Amino acid sequence: MYYPEELVEEVRTRSDIVDVISGYVKLQKKGSNYFGLCPFHNEKSPSFSVSPSKQMYYCFGCGAGGNAITFVMEYENYSFSEALKMLADRAGIELPKEDISKEARARDDLRASLLEINKLAANYFYYQLHKPQGEVGYRYLKNRQLSDETMKRFGLGFANKTSSDLYQYLRSKGYEDSLLKETGLVTIEERGAHDKFWNRVIFPIMDVNNRVIGFGGRVMGDGMPKYLNSPETRIFDKGRNLYGLNYARTSREKYILVCEGYMDVIAMHQAGFINAVASLGTALTSQHAVLLKRYTDKVVLTYDSDGAGVKAALRAIPILKEVGISAKVLDMQPYKDPDEFMKNLGAEEFKKRIENARNSFLFEIDIIRKEFDRNDPEQETEFHNQTARKLLEFQEPLERDNYIQAVAREFFIPYEALKRLVNNLGNKIGFTPQNMEEREREKKSLGGRKKDKEDGIRQSQRLLLTWLIENPGLFEKIDGIITAEDFKEPLYYKVAALVFEGHAAGKLEPAGILNHFINDEEEYRDAAALFNASLNESLGNEEQKKAFSETVLKVKKNSLDYASRNVKNIEELQNIIREQAALESLHISLE
Ligand code: UTP
Ligand code: MN
Repeated sequence: MYYPEELVEEVRTRSDIVDVISGYVKLQKKGSNYFGLCPFHNEKSPSFSVSPSKQMYYCFGCGAGGNAITFVMEYENYSFSEALKMLADRAGIELPKEDISKEARARDDLRASLLEINKLAANYFYYQLHKPQGEVGYRYLKNRQLSDETMKRFGLGFANKTSSDLYQYLRSKGYEDSLLKETGLVTIEERGAHDKFWNRVIFPIMDVNNRVIGFGGRVMGDGMPKYLNSPETRIFDKGRNLYGLNYARTSREKYILVCEGYMDVIAMHQAGFINAVASLGTALTSQHAVLLKRYTDKVVLTYDSDGAGVKAALRAIPILKEVGISAKVLDMQPYKDPDEFMKNLGAEEFKKRIENARNSFLFEIDIIRKEFDRNDPEQETEFHNQTARKLLEFQEPLERDNYIQAVAREFFIPYEALKRLVNNLGNKIGFTPQNMEEREREKKSLGGRKKDKEDGIRQSQRLLLTWLIENPGLFEKIDGIITAEDFKEPLYYKVAALVFEGHAAGKLEPAGILNHFINDEEEYRDAAALFNASLNESLGNEEQKKAFSETVLKVKKNSLDYASRNVKNIEELQNIIREQAALESLHISLE
């Protein structure tokens, strides 16, 4: 769906960015800007800034940035038009009704179409489950003790034995093969089309906004693979979605239960634990952790009690800790997973297990403990050493001491002796809490350097643009030297043209310029990031002033080099050579 630029601009200008973001993030005024904790990464001190004059936000920590529209897109995981709709509603602006044909719309907004198809497919599967041909599926779920209400709540369905009836159904709704291919629901080959899911019970996967983004299908009995999942598509990113989070986010509990599978989530919800989620068929990722952090800072891991489950827990603990979530581990013994546990011991017993869930650090020590034989003094010593080394993970002295106490108590190690061991070890390998912090910082800045490893010329163009946006006074300094045409990077050229034009017209509005990029989400985000660098890279000191003139020269030189490679005749080439020579003696000063 395309909206006219003026309309987009109206929605944007009537959605004050401070107002909009305040609905999600607690902001505090500092000087002319507002600051708060960044919702896009985990942090303890605010580096997320909102500028009322620019109507832009920018995070100095993670680099997220944009205007009111991108904020809603990022936060709610909305497409551009979804975000626009939301803001228009909020501002009381009526958007034109969507009245174009299915095909045209599919072309316009692939994401929206995929969501629409998934919704149709989910309805189709649900409908099949309640037809005679779906009876086997229905009975299977009933046997697994799911109530009708639960099946409905999770939209469970059934994929028939026939090999292409979903495909036929979606075709009858007017969708083309090219689009259906993108859904991951069908495979289309020369010999014909096939449904990906057949003869399976179906679990629709919903995002936090209750939109169906993919599916899981389970064989009824012992087939392989046990679960088949949608492939990743434009709308389904396994590393970023958690099954059940759409419901768990509405729970009033302070913690979230994280488990392994579909059936575990559903069994827990049915038993009243609506704060359960699962990372499906993949290990917990740090993106999952960041997502969880939006809703909680406490997680109870309810992974399977087998070796794989323990491994998964050991892997998840540091990932959660990294974003500031503290984890506990629930003891499922003697049962395999939450689903089995619930069937055998019920909700009340489960509640007790939650209350007694093991602190994640002690859980890790438990695992180490099992590797050593207490009766062998050598092994006992090695256990102490490993434990001491692990205790060095705590940088905060007080916190570390609390853990030394807890470990001493739980594992019958004399407290003073353990403490001495930890300190000695710390000194030996040069790990004091202070230099641990330093190491952390170093690690982060290294990652940061890697992140914006743009090639030099791209970076120069970007810098120059952001400086011009930041200080319109600089236009004077580059007058006669730089024009929009000197920005050879296609996206930067587009932006530069708008910036120069805006400056000439006396109204340079960064947040508004972004509207020119709404038809390509990628470009839109890139452009937003471009503008936000300006909050970061001011021209304060001498060094930066020098950098400015160097940057101008670099951009110009690149532009002339480019031109010299594309000359049409000898006069042009002579002109360029003259300009190149002039550039050598050019001196740009900010004074
Ligand atoms: P499990 O094998 O523990 O299955 O896989 P489960 O949840 O206990 O399933 P039931 O109770 O036998 O029905 C845990 C999760 O790993 C993913 C699924 O998301 C599953 O829920 N998985 C497992 C797959 O994606 N594919 C598979 O073949 C198996
Ligand atoms: Mn199970």
